[in-house]
Amino acid sequence: MKLKLNVNRNRLLLSLLGMTLFLLSERTLCQTVTIPIETAGNALVLQADNNKDLKTIYLGKRLSAPNEYEQVPGVYHQPTDPSGIFNSAYTPSGSRNLVEPAITVTHADGNNSLDLRYISHQSTKVSDDISLLTIRLKDPVYDFEVTLYYRSYYKEDVIEQWSTIRHKEKGNVILHKFASANLYLKGESYWLRQYHGDWAKEMRPEESRLTHGIKTLDTKLGTRADLFQPPVFMVSLDRPASEDEGTVLYGAMEWSGNFRFDLEVDAQDNLRIIAGMNNYASPYTLAPNEDFSTPPFLYTLSDKGKGAASRKLQQWARNYQILDGKGSRLTLLNNWESTYFDFNEARLAELLKDTKKLGVDLFLLDDGWFGNKYPRNDDHAGLGDWQENKSKLPNGIASLVKEAQNNGVKFGIWIEPEMVNPKSELYEQHPDWVIKQPKRDEYYFRNQLVLDLSNPKVQDFVYGIVDGLFTKNPDLAYIKWDCNAVIYNANSAFLKDQSHFYVDYVRGLYKVLEKIRAKYPKVPMMLCSGGGGRVDYGALKYFTEFWPSDNTDPLERIFIQWENSYFYPAITSSNHVTDWGKQPLKFRIDVAMMGKLGFDIVVSKLSPKDLEFCQHAIKTYNTIKPIIWQGDQYRLADPETGNVAAVLYLDSTKTAGVLFNYLVNSRYDVGSKLPIRLKGLDPVKQYRISEINLYPDTQSTIPDGKTYTGDFLMKVGLNPDLRAGRASVVLKLEEAK
Ligand code: DGJ
Repeated sequence: MKLKLNVNRNRLLLSLLGMTLFLLSERTLCQTVTIPIETAGNALVLQADNNKDLKTIYLGKRLSAPNEYEQVPGVYHQPTDPSGIFNSAYTPSGSRNLVEPAITVTHADGNNSLDLRYISHQSTKVSDDISLLTIRLKDPVYDFEVTLYYRSYYKEDVIEQWSTIRHKEKGNVILHKFASANLYLKGESYWLRQYHGDWAKEMRPEESRLTHGIKTLDTKLGTRADLFQPPVFMVSLDRPASEDEGTVLYGAMEWSGNFRFDLEVDAQDNLRIIAGMNNYASPYTLAPNEDFSTPPFLYTLSDKGKGAASRKLQQWARNYQILDGKGSRLTLLNNWESTYFDFNEARLAELLKDTKKLGVDLFLLDDGWFGNKYPRNDDHAGLGDWQENKSKLPNGIASLVKEAQNNGVKFGIWIEPEMVNPKSELYEQHPDWVIKQPKRDEYYFRNQLVLDLSNPKVQDFVYGIVDGLFTKNPDLAYIKWDCNAVIYNANSAFLKDQSHFYVDYVRGLYKVLEKIRAKYPKVPMMLCSGGGGRVDYGALKYFTEFWPSDNTDPLERIFIQWENSYFYPAITSSNHVTDWGKQPLKFRIDVAMMGKLGFDIVVSKLSPKDLEFCQHAIKTYNTIKPIIWQGDQYRLADPETGNVAAVLYLDSTKTAGVLFNYLVNSRYDVGSKLPIRLKGLDPVKQYRISEINLYPDTQSTIPDGKTYTGDFLMKVGLNPDLRAGRASVVLKLEEAK
């Protein structure tokens, strides 16, 4: 009897235990998982719900109590979302989805549906500033996985997001869309600032309210991919943000090829942003157990307007992304606009002397130094044949490098290694290295074609051009890497699957650049693309600076540099003084000083006074360049909306600054009628103001050395006294102790 009772009691205990375990596991299963990604000012909060759907529940200012993030969805009363996944953190397609997807696939069995459920996540602290979060998602039906990556930079309020896709299905899967990131924002209205351009017209802004439906910004050019559309944008919430007010998100793709941004205002009036490589003509076949990685999409969110967003992004770029972002840069004299293709050793020897005379660090030899069977005497021939032209340079580059050293300056060189002229030995020897359609007529952009960088042999060739130059000339100090053609007739003789071409081209380019940087980690390289047709944060990992535009008319440059400054730090902007435009030399030099200064003028034709001014300006620049390169930038007067442009650069201790001011309108009686209010200063510090970079024999109309408090300068301001005949004024601020 006793035994029976015991058995029954044990059974009861066991079944109670089983019950508890069942309830526990049910609870674990039904539990939501909330994943906040916090930076100094912001939080992105993801949540896996009961169904294990991973959603964005918050993207905005960071809350003091993290446990309150869970409360956020409860305070929105928006129309119901019939699919339940409008705010998916990575929207799959073909199952419940009703909106623009982040990913679309065809499985090995031909099925087109995808569902992605949360499996696990892991957060790693990479440094005091950087954390990396990974989240695994899996299809409940197919053996198909996506891992989402979020690298957050605490101090800079920047997040980089990308994904990797893999599967273990019984055959290949086709990826039709493969975004890097899928954001979800809530606001009353959304204001997009986008850019368009063309040769000499880069970074033209347009701002508009996003309406319901999808706005796509993209490029299909393949290489020189940003010619018409750069891979950056900003979106303000509720109203267009100003420099100091409003909530604004800046976004940028780290990818030097076809990109695509979809901005969709949905039926709940929320904004979905899907960013990634462009899937145009690119369905990608993925074999089992292979990884497909997407490039990072980066963004920063500011609730203090565009100025704060730019300063954070610029700081991030200098700290982490651009090559040698905290390092120095070389001032230079370039020969492109003074000689074009028409030079020889004697002419270059003179230019090397001029480089020294001017007082810059380096001479940069541009296009036209190579090709023998097909000499590069204009842009119709020679590209691809990277041997010194024997009649122009009988003693080769080596003698020029030596001659530069004799003059106490460094030597740099132009290359365009991804390209080929049909009139070249390279084309004759390797027609299969050239991107073209075998059955169609060739179609040229600047009389040239693009080499097939998806082919490892071509990658070796391109690497070999750079490596060869450095091996033969170890003292070569600078490379200008140009890229003038877009891709027509996209077709690779190497690839089996042509739809991999656009993606594999850029991957091939990055392989080459990785290899170059492994061997030559610090040599400065300028990213040029027939002007600014290839400026992006993917490429800037390998380059110290970029060429914003061939348009060096200083008036045009004020606008181009202004728009670039939203996204890129001044240290990356190669600004050359040329003969473009009608402004006086001082105006041209002042504008070029706002980034990395260079010259492309005929020094021997300068009047003695102009030469003296140039020499003096370079010396002045050398004293202020640390503030321009590493300081905080404040855009003060917008040339798009007024007659004046003004930008302040301030060092991190707020003890020294440089203020550039320009008149951008030459109509009668136009001038700086109102003072310009400064920003970022210490209100209690006294600042001494003096005008610098004055043209010889001109007097400043600003009282020299007058001091004001930071408070005064920020509340009342300072008038640079811009007017006709005084259209460009540079002021230096120094703390007066
Ligand atoms: C285009 C560049 O933008 C120019 O600066 C110059 O290098 C030419 N190419 C040379 O062909």
